[in-house]
Amino acid sequence: MKIINNISNMHDYIDKIKRNKKNIIGFIPTMGALHDGHLSLIHTAAKDCNKIIVSIFVNPIQFGPGEDYNKYPRDIKKDTKLLCSIKKVNCVFIPDVNEMYPPDYATYVQLENEMPKVLCGISRPTHFKGVTTVVCKLLNIVKPDKLYLGQKDMQQAIILKKMIKDLNYKIDVIICPIIREKDGLAMSSRNIYLTPDERNIAPILRKALQIGESMIELGEKDPQVIIKEIKRKIKETDAIIDYVEIVDPETLLKKERISGKVLIAAAIFVGNTRLIDNTIVETKDVH
Ligand code: PAF
Repeated sequence: MKIINNISNMHDYIDKIKRNKKNIIGFIPTMGALHDGHLSLIHTAAKDCNKIIVSIFVNPIQFGPGEDYNKYPRDIKKDTKLLCSIKKVNCVFIPDVNEMYPPDYATYVQLENEMPKVLCGISRPTHFKGVTTVVCKLLNIVKPDKLYLGQKDMQQAIILKKMIKDLNYKIDVIICPIIREKDGLAMSSRNIYLTPDERNIAPILRKALQIGESMIELGEKDPQVIIKEIKRKIKETDAIIDYVEIVDPETLLKKERISGKVLIAAAIFVGNTRLIDNTIVETKDVH
């Protein structure tokens, strides 16, 4: 496995791969602190692609003021050792923050529709601009055929899919299922912030979303009734609700009535740690 730290070496490496037209490049962008969720993206990519590239870059511009940029877990040694051990990754790209964003850096990529403003965008108003900008830069460097993203960050995945379509990238986006701990907590690099007591509370998010799933399966059509029940369940604990919403999984617009496919998405604070999770439920009726 190659470890590349600078952009021009990465361009050279990719140019070399691209000379063989049969190569299919699969790309998994990450911020490191790798867990089984990331590994499942790599395993999925390895089924479709013969060249797998992982990036590790804690992107400063997607963290708002007062967020956890400085304390975000970083362990490049552990991450690279793990990537080496799974033997499916051809290259890990670990760019330097000063090369990605030199002092005169001035270009940002941003969706101008509602997508980055809803759900997580309400409490993190600059977050998705940071994500679209960095992923755009990474796609220009890695030039993948396929991009692998996790459903845990579903709003991010939908926004990136839209950016890729709007900017005419010839890249397939593959959204992979959420990987969970045994008690249902969605895997996340931020779970290590949780104290043992908070860790016991955290699975409430998944449990509450499952109540929503069951209500839809039993025929409930009013999103507000479902949201109320999900919130009621979360409030049985000390967790603080950021949002619970039921939206269209393509547009992220609120559903007035349950029909077709719906995305139930939620964010809560357990102590100081913000956790997100979601579920997609498909109903039989289309209207
Ligand atoms: O999901 C993440 O880890 C990040 O938001 C991403 C896509 C790597 C961009 O920094």
